[in-house]
Amino acid sequence: MTKSVEGGGSWIRVLRSAELGPLCLCKAVVADSTLLLARLRSGEVAAASNVCPHESEDLSGGRVYMDSVDCPRHHYVYDLKTGINRYPRSVFPDDLAKQIAPLPIYPAREEGGWIWVYLP
Ligand code: FES
Repeated sequence: MTKSVEGGGSWIRVLRSAELGPLCLCKAVVADSTLLLARLRSGEVAAASNVCPHESEDLSGGRVYMDSVDCPRHHYVYDLKTGINRYPRSVFPDDLAKQIAPLPIYPAREEGGWIWVYLP
């Protein structure tokens, strides 16, 4: 694993780009973090925590849906660009919607045939 330090965190080389196909999810363990990597509709890569904020399910068993991840356990849906919950937030009353924690998102990029993730 190669690291390049930038502003207190590190860009970490996580996975070969070719290993993450269209609309696929992949789990990667890096240092103390378990990451979720996703290939979005545009071909862009997204990185997030692999742990569902609801009840800690492994999100890599879910699926990419409209640039979000659909948790395999109770089907909460989190936007993979912002981390914001899209469902059931969209159907809950405001007071309940505010209680749904977002999914932590990390900057990700592709370079030299690899996917890199910035961990603070
Ligand atoms: S554990 Fe993910 S939606 Fe409940």
